Amino acid sequence: MLARSSLIIFLATFVLRVLSENTTSKIKIRYYVTENNQGAIVEINSVNKLETESNASQIVVIHVLEGSLPIIYANDFKGFPLLRNLELPGCEIEEIQPGAFGDNALVSIGLPRNKITTIEDGVFSNLTVQYLDLGRNLIETISPHAFDNMPQLKSLDLNNNKIQIVHREWFKWNPQLSINLAYNQIEHLPNEVFYIQNVSRIDNDLIFEHLVLAGNKIEEWKADFLKGARVRSLDMSTNKLQCLEGNYANLFTALLTDIDDNPWDCECLLKIAKWAVENQRDSRIRMTNSVEICNSTGQFPTMRTLP
Ligand SMILES: *[C@@H]1O[C@H](CO)[C@@H](O)[C@H](O)[C@H]1NC(C)=O
Ligand SMILES: *[C@@H]1O[C@H](CO)[C@@H](O)[C@H](O)[C@H]1NC(C)=O
Ligand SMILES: *[C@@H]1O[C@H](CO)[C@@H](O)[C@H](O)[C@H]1NC(C)=O
Ligand SMILES: *[C@@H]1O[C@H](CO)[C@@H](O)[C@H](O)[C@H]1NC(C)=O
Ligand SMILES: *[C@@H]1O[C@H](CO)[C@@H](O)[C@H](O)[C@H]1NC(C)=O
Repeated sequence: MLARSSLIIFLATFVLRVLSENTTSKIKIRYYVTENNQGAIVEINSVNKLETESNASQIVVIHVLEGSLPIIYANDFKGFPLLRNLELPGCEIEEIQPGAFGDNALVSIGLPRNKITTIEDGVFSNLTVQYLDLGRNLIETISPHAFDNMPQLKSLDLNNNKIQIVHREWFKWNPQLSINLAYNQIEHLPNEVFYIQNVSRIDNDLIFEHLVLAGNKIEEWKADFLKGARVRSLDMSTNKLQCLEGNYANLFTALLTDIDDNPWDCECLLKIAKWAVENQRDSRIRMTNSVEICNSTGQFPTMRTLP
């Protein structure tokens, strides 16, 4: 009985696999090779079929134009030693297995508009990638060590996901990183989250280029989360900030801070505005729309325009 039902399940799975292979089969890929800097478009039914192209070892760019790739398997992008740019936008990717992007020279990986939910260790860690775009996915969980040993990472785009927890470990390898965490579910930032643990790297003037936390659910912004980090621009707009406690000098350390479009308590915003003008930081803090709402009494000091 048991054997029979397992046989039926086996057969059903097999038929489903064959069917789904056919329905999801064609993947349209554009690639470029170093040799003549020329591109070609191929239609194949699995990414690793690309390896059999005679010029696979010269491929520098792979761009999936059409097709569905629910799982990126560990060896899908092996066999392209010169691959620098990999673009897989809107390919219905749900899962990426560790080791998917090994042994090549990848500089940028674009995975926007997919259905990825989790980033495990070993998917991106140890890569020499500079630009990583994971925007507009369904990411809820990223392992603390998911971005370990990626010293060349310059831009990490995680906009429009479902991230609640931000780990300090993500950022410790990366001087001069831009991080986009806009439109996630972040309510709380751990203390010193952007603290560069490798102190020998702090000789650079600026550590973080752009830190985008707009469109989250942050209610409380304490000075501590920026401690030990230097930031060129910090975007805290469209959160749930009503008031700021503590020493403003420790909060507005970035060259430009956007605090606009929060549900500000007007008394509190007035205090910030006055402090900003008195301390000549006003050209460095953007709050135009919120001031417009709060300045019905005309109490807000005239601010210098932004650079
Ligand atoms: C899938 O496609 C192959 C050839 O492309 C064909 O031989 C096979 O019958 C198809 N299978 C189904 C289940 O449609
Ligand atoms: C790569 O080789 C295949 C033959 O395997 C050829 O059809 C294709 O045009 C070549 N691509 C480029 C970009 O030279
Ligand atoms: C990354 O490299 C380190 C040291 O070379 C190694 O111990 C570790 O297992 C690697 N991690 C992954 C996920 O490949
Ligand atoms: C810290 O930075 C130095 C110099 O860039 C580097 O040699 C060292 O491996 C780094 N250590 C860690 C843990 O990041
Ligand atoms: C607030 O209103 C007063 C009076 O209308 C005006 O002089 C001032 O420039 C306004 N402040 C800002 C920051 O717009």
